[in-house]
Amino acid sequence: MSISKSQLGSHRGLIIGDQEIFGESEFTVKDKFSGEVIATITKAGKKDVENAVTEALNTFHNDELTPYQRYEILKKAGELLKERKEQVAFTIAREVGKTIKDARGEVDRAIQTLILSSEEAKRIAGEELPIAASPGAENRVGFTMRMPIGVIGAITPFNFPFNLACHKIAPALAAGNTVVWKPATTTAASAYHLIEILQDAGLPSGYVNLVCGSGAQVGDWLLQDERVGKYTFTGSAEVGRYIKENSGLRKVSLELGNNSPNIVHHDADLDLAAKLCALKGFNTSGQACISVQRIYVHKQAEEAFLSKLKSITENLKVGNPLEEETDIGPLISEGEAERVINWIDEAVSQGAEIVTGGKRDGAIVTPTILKKVENDMKVVCEEVFGPVLTVSTYEDINEAIEAANNTDYGLQSGIFTTDLNIAMKAVKGFKTGGVIVNDASTFRADAMPYGGIKNSGIGREGPRYAVEVLTELKTVILNL
Ligand code: SIN
Repeated sequence: MSISKSQLGSHRGLIIGDQEIFGESEFTVKDKFSGEVIATITKAGKKDVENAVTEALNTFHNDELTPYQRYEILKKAGELLKERKEQVAFTIAREVGKTIKDARGEVDRAIQTLILSSEEAKRIAGEELPIAASPGAENRVGFTMRMPIGVIGAITPFNFPFNLACHKIAPALAAGNTVVWKPATTTAASAYHLIEILQDAGLPSGYVNLVCGSGAQVGDWLLQDERVGKYTFTGSAEVGRYIKENSGLRKVSLELGNNSPNIVHHDADLDLAAKLCALKGFNTSGQACISVQRIYVHKQAEEAFLSKLKSITENLKVGNPLEEETDIGPLISEGEAERVINWIDEAVSQGAEIVTGGKRDGAIVTPTILKKVENDMKVVCEEVFGPVLTVSTYEDINEAIEAANNTDYGLQSGIFTTDLNIAMKAVKGFKTGGVIVNDASTFRADAMPYGGIKNSGIGREGPRYAVEVLTELKTVILNL
């Protein structure tokens, strides 16, 4: 790759093979707090997307990287990211509007994602099959091999633009695939840091190709190109469904939404529960698929829990994400902030009560707690993707689990309790891909399998699990 390392703030093009392609049609990435333009980027046309897939396919067919070289490149990428942490975090904080503290956290996690993926490159293997034990298969030896799929179409969201891209691109490379990547337009500036890091770590051109522009156009052209062997997407359930319906028999990994339930039982450490529900519910202004959204607290603990939750929430500092003390910045756009406020207002008109928050200033929504909510209110039954917690009460744990499961989503859930039997009841009862005990549903370590059931998606991420779904099993039988 010989891509120019122009600073962000200047114009950037599409990355196709060893070329940076500039076009007339452009879009801007803005600082979500100040509104300042931080990058102007070329919008891909249909032909650009076609060329990117051709480049990725040719690279795949002529692939010369050994598993050890993949390991070295991804490991080096992790080391380079560590060196460039501040610069990358600064771009993420500005383009998402997430606080600089959270942006640094995202970079730390991305370092782990790259390193974990590098390690997987050395572990990809099949197994010996006890084939000779089948009558008629004597004198045969059988084994499986894990083969790369080919070209992977990676479509990444705005909320964790860097780490979620690493979760798709790094395991795809580790497994021997090549990639065409379409990042979210609102946060496409940090993509250039990742491209440059991979380039500097020694990844040859053609392995990762970057096409920018709207999902409705660029994403759709990518979807229509049957040379792409698999799509890996993080975003809304609506778009996930569209991708599944339009990808024919090709494979998909879909990491979609959630309206994460968290149960706080009467025996829980209420200080811990209140702190984690507030900090992890409002982190990145609630714009994470596993953000705490619906809290079910035992009636006996309601008063104490709510007063702790309210007090922690009211002490959070809202404002400029680049200031070190800020806890909560703006949402991705003013339009999204308006939608969240409309949902809050609608819930209030239907009988909900605001415990705190519920105000908007531009794209900022103050962290909001609602009580007296009902399951058919949007703030409960849909994914808010904003800084809103709803609190309901229960008297019987079975009733709480049933309420938690009364949703089309099923990504992750949380329970706070000191009773192992209650914890296990929830572990077994929650219909979600992951259950977190004594931490909020928002907990994610990058090594763990991550993904949902029901409308929350298909497949699992986390490098070891992503490699599994980014490879095909090939069965080999030798007749001796
Ligand atoms: C997501 O929004 O699904 C990603 C959350 C995370 O990686 O912490």
